[in-house]
Amino acid sequence: MAAPDADEHWAPPSARSQPHLRLLALAVRDFRNLERVEVEPSPDATVAAGQNGQGKTNLLEALYYLATLKPLRAARLAELIRFGADQARVEGRFLIRGAERAIAVEVSSAGTRQAYVDGKRAESLEDYFGGVSVVAFTPDDLAVVKGAPEGRRALLDRAVFNRFPSFLKESRDYSRALKSRNRLLRDSAPDAYLSAYDETLARLGARIWMRRRQLLCELAPLAEKAFAAIGRIDSPARYRYSLARLHPEEHSLPEPQLCTRLGEALRARLPHDRDRAFTSVGPHADDLAIELGDQRARAFASQGQQRALVLAWKIAEVENLLSSLGYLPLLLLDDVSSELDPDRNAFLMDYLARCGAQCFLTTTEPALVRRAASPSARWLSVRAGTVSPSHPPASQP
Ligand SMILES: Nc1ncnc2c1ncn2[C@@H]1O[C@H](COP(=O)(O)OP(=O)(O)OP(=O)(O)O)[C@@H](O)[C@H]1O
Ligand SMILES: [Mg+2]
Repeated sequence: MAAPDADEHWAPPSARSQPHLRLLALAVRDFRNLERVEVEPSPDATVAAGQNGQGKTNLLEALYYLATLKPLRAARLAELIRFGADQARVEGRFLIRGAERAIAVEVSSAGTRQAYVDGKRAESLEDYFGGVSVVAFTPDDLAVVKGAPEGRRALLDRAVFNRFPSFLKESRDYSRALKSRNRLLRDSAPDAYLSAYDETLARLGARIWMRRRQLLCELAPLAEKAFAAIGRIDSPARYRYSLARLHPEEHSLPEPQLCTRLGEALRARLPHDRDRAFTSVGPHADDLAIELGDQRARAFASQGQQRALVLAWKIAEVENLLSSLGYLPLLLLDDVSSELDPDRNAFLMDYLARCGAQCFLTTTEPALVRRAASPSARWLSVRAGTVSPSHPPASQP
């Protein structure tokens, strides 16, 4: 089957011409190696270019942390603070559905964070997050197909969080309950203690299953379509949820039954879990199964195929946010162009140029991302933690 024409699939719907989300200004203080950076991004593409180790990813990481309160790279929060400084601060002025809003976050050396909306301490995370969403695409993402299930769950959960901001709290509550249960297992606590936790864990776990299921229901068909549009691979892609130690059909139960089912599974696996001092069933043990044709991509897909599978997922995430929330997220692309082969990079750059999202790209080779950057693009040069305006690369003959 011939790959569908990309233009036919990704023709700009009208919402693209109505920007609901724009970053107007970004100010960063003492975040990693960035001592003091102020950026006024382009409404289209902003490209941060520089040699290795200068602070390009740090700049994207600051913006990602501001928008999600989750570190882009696995880290203790205190690692985000510039060596020798007391606290890191990132502030962004956004235009959200026509209204300007300043949101800021500070991280202290004790590893705690404080979020602000329009200069006031944010009362709740919902308050803080209203309307800001970002999709990041990094070289680490490109490795998730082959990697451990943890990476695929994180890929899935980042998409769930964008779609349902309350998921941040829900997944934290679940992790906390899981940690407590695992501690009780390690301490050989009596059954009565454990069953008190199981009720909470089952309720929170069922909610996570519901969120992931709804997201996959929306996103999987879009990712499968995007994968076909990327082209050059005849086999279709499939993205589906893989439940650990439960029958696949159980995933389609309504939430109250999911809760009951998880409670039963926790009880049934208790002797086993006591032996291992670890909870073996629940959303933390599941996987996002990615298939190419009839085969598991994890075991059989080539490197180029794996990267196309992740690229399709990211494009689907953007398209899904547009159709479900009505606006495009900010896109952060960290040095992905050097990791993709020329055809797929060209596909991605064309998509970015056409999709209408505000994007932020980093690169060591400006020529690779030139296609994404319209004349309104802003070019930045990053050197030893300082960021200054620069020029687009000279166009090739
Ligand atoms: N907390 C911190 N304080 C000061 N410097 C830090 C901190 N954390 C990381 N760095 C420094 O930041 C630099 C790396 O920055 P970054 O990862 O943004 O580089 P990059 O420009 O993206 O490079 P590459 O092209 O290799 O990806 C390293 O020199 C590292 O030592
Ligand atoms: Mg980098």
